[in-house]
Amino acid sequence: MIPTQFAQNIISIYGAQGKTWLENLPDLLEYCAQKWQLQNLRVMPNLSFHYVASAFSLKINKPIALKIRIDHRNFMAEKNTLAYYDGSGCAALYDWDETVHALLLEQCIPGIPLASFDGLEDGSIFIAAHIIRLLQSKKITAYNSQHFPRLSDWLNIFKSPIINKLPTHHHQRLISCLQLNEVQDAITDFLLHGDLHQGNILLNGDKWVAIDPKGVIGNPAFEVASFICNPISEILTQSNPREIVANRIHLFSQALAIDKQEIKVWSYIRALLGACWALEDNTDHHPWLKIAEIIESI
Ligand SMILES: Nc1ncnc2c1ncn2[C@@H]1O[C@H](COP(=O)(O)OP(=O)(O)OP(=O)(O)O)[C@@H](O)[C@H]1O
Ligand SMILES: [Mg+2]
Repeated sequence: MIPTQFAQNIISIYGAQGKTWLENLPDLLEYCAQKWQLQNLRVMPNLSFHYVASAFSLKINKPIALKIRIDHRNFMAEKNTLAYYDGSGCAALYDWDETVHALLLEQCIPGIPLASFDGLEDGSIFIAAHIIRLLQSKKITAYNSQHFPRLSDWLNIFKSPIINKLPTHHHQRLISCLQLNEVQDAITDFLLHGDLHQGNILLNGDKWVAIDPKGVIGNPAFEVASFICNPISEILTQSNPREIVANRIHLFSQALAIDKQEIKVWSYIRALLGACWALEDNTDHHPWLKIAEIIESI
């Protein structure tokens, strides 16, 4: 019931806390199964750091996806973001349980992720742009803005010592990008998904919807950056990564009426954020540096 690779991922990130959580996971699942009267609980393939299973809930009489997270803060961020989007452009949130960090989600059926390349590249960009328009169809109010972090909070990582592990030529460039964008970030009023890459867009009936939002208030141009940089290893093994990235910037700019230069700058920042997060997690940050350099060269 608990995939080996998933268990290893949890222990590598959370150590002893992760081990205890894994030991308790069967009880957490049993608790959720009882609470929502779940039948046919089946773990999803290729889990990374969160437990996700499909099931049928007799309580709400619908197929569901059950997602259980180990950490409270990210659980709250995802729950609040899903509640805010309220099923528009995003899988619906049916219910949640704060004590066990469980989300009861609309199950996307057939649930296949959005693919790129092989002739699907341009179409996938228009699908993502359509989702972004739905997600940005309402503006955040002063009341609900308190529930979410701002992009400027995420960018504080560039003020930490980790920045010294990036090649020095990025430092000055980052400073000028951030000075420009801090001003824009201060006046923004959109809640961004924050990680809208191809793997977080699933087919649901005849519609594509987002899953797995992080929830961050920031400049709308940042929303396309995750898509532009991913799937990172696949982009870098294509024969023409620069053309792929340039085409994405161009098409998103047209589809969303956002200035190309703004998309380019935010994608560059996103790539360097990816490099810093990889350094924090002790994973390979070099692909992120490569993408940053490709973006810079456009
Ligand atoms: N609502 C849903 N309907 C159908 N399948 C889902 C749903 N939510 C998640 N999944 C499946 O579970 C997988 C992991 O879910 P999710 O992306 O939310 O977690 P994750 O651990 O953050 O993944 P990653 O970090 O790799 O993006 C998805 O790739 C998808 O296959
Ligand atoms: Mg995901």
